[in-house]
Amino acid sequence: MLLKKAVVLGTGSYFPERVLSNAELEKIVDTTDEWITSRTGMKERRIAAKEESASDMGAIAAEKAIQNSDVKAEDLDLIICATLTPDHLFPSTACLIQNKIGAKNAAAFDLSAACSGYVYAMMTAKAYVSSGIYKTVLVVATEKISSIIDYTDRATCVLFGDAATATVVAHREHGLEIIHGCLGADGTGADMLIQPAGGSRMPACQESIDQKLHYLRMEGKDVYKHAVRRMEEVAMKCITDVGMKIEDVGYLIPHQANLRIIEGFAKRFQVPQERVIVNIQRYGNTAAASVGIGFDELLNLKKIKEGETVLMVAFGAGLAWGSLLLQRRGS
Ligand code: COA
Repeated sequence: MLLKKAVVLGTGSYFPERVLSNAELEKIVDTTDEWITSRTGMKERRIAAKEESASDMGAIAAEKAIQNSDVKAEDLDLIICATLTPDHLFPSTACLIQNKIGAKNAAAFDLSAACSGYVYAMMTAKAYVSSGIYKTVLVVATEKISSIIDYTDRATCVLFGDAATATVVAHREHGLEIIHGCLGADGTGADMLIQPAGGSRMPACQESIDQKLHYLRMEGKDVYKHAVRRMEEVAMKCITDVGMKIEDVGYLIPHQANLRIIEGFAKRFQVPQERVIVNIQRYGNTAAASVGIGFDELLNLKKIKEGETVLMVAFGAGLAWGSLLLQRRGS
């Protein structure tokens, strides 16, 4: 089968207005700006309004991405929404976004891959477009992660922020093409990063609320070790699969979970600092949205030249990880 080219047409992101700074967190839990900055690189993060949901934020990002592409909402064939904080367990957040943006011709579904959600969803979009099944696919990654954070737990509440991002992927002969992707998972690590209650394993009940089991739980140190190893492995596989070398990587967009992970990774990959996208200071860890936000920022700089590549790398709960390689070709 002759595969069609899957090209990025446009991106857009949305951030809630409310800024939660390290100084404010110092008043909420037993922490310091110094601890948060030195251990994570984070300075502030955004928090969605009470009435603002993942689909509300995702729809705004989606409208921006559509505006920045040469398509209309009615042209979309499919919407894939990556999120670990859906509005509801069902219906899907993708269906809610479809309604909000008026994409009446689009099929819609959610994809669950936690912090690797954007990369998994982009890979899925590529598969649909390359196979010819769909021509125009909207990827949305949106998180109201503050809705599952325990703001009495200093080990987790300082780390995460809310945001949404969206990308239109379609068949075109020229442009920023998704040339390759690699995904991986290891379910033996499922307990390391988990929202224990609220699903069919442990439906919401008085006991789950009393024990705070509907909040995110993370064994930070273990996750850290796995993140370092898997991100390097999958990034290397992604470039060597297509016969490229480390020095062929133009821009690097790593998942924004910890500045120490990002800097160590970039150093080993020998990508100069100015070519590594880092926004963790401003947004913290926005889970599924993280890599897509970095990609949107990079595209806004309008720096990617003909032939240059972009390598995305993500890691998160599941455990699940992934890498995606793009290259500007012919425009
Ligand atoms: N403020 C002050 N102290 C804190 C704190 C906070 N917000 N959170 C934890 N601590 C304390 C701990 O209680 C511990 O104290 P103790 O030594 O007296 O027990 C100490 O700081 C060290 O905690 P630890 O968890 O070992 O810190 P760390 O250096 O591993 O950093 C993370 C914690 C979460 C920043 C780090 O483990 C991490 O980034 N993990 C990976 C996250 C990731 O990659 N996620 C990807 C998927 S989302």
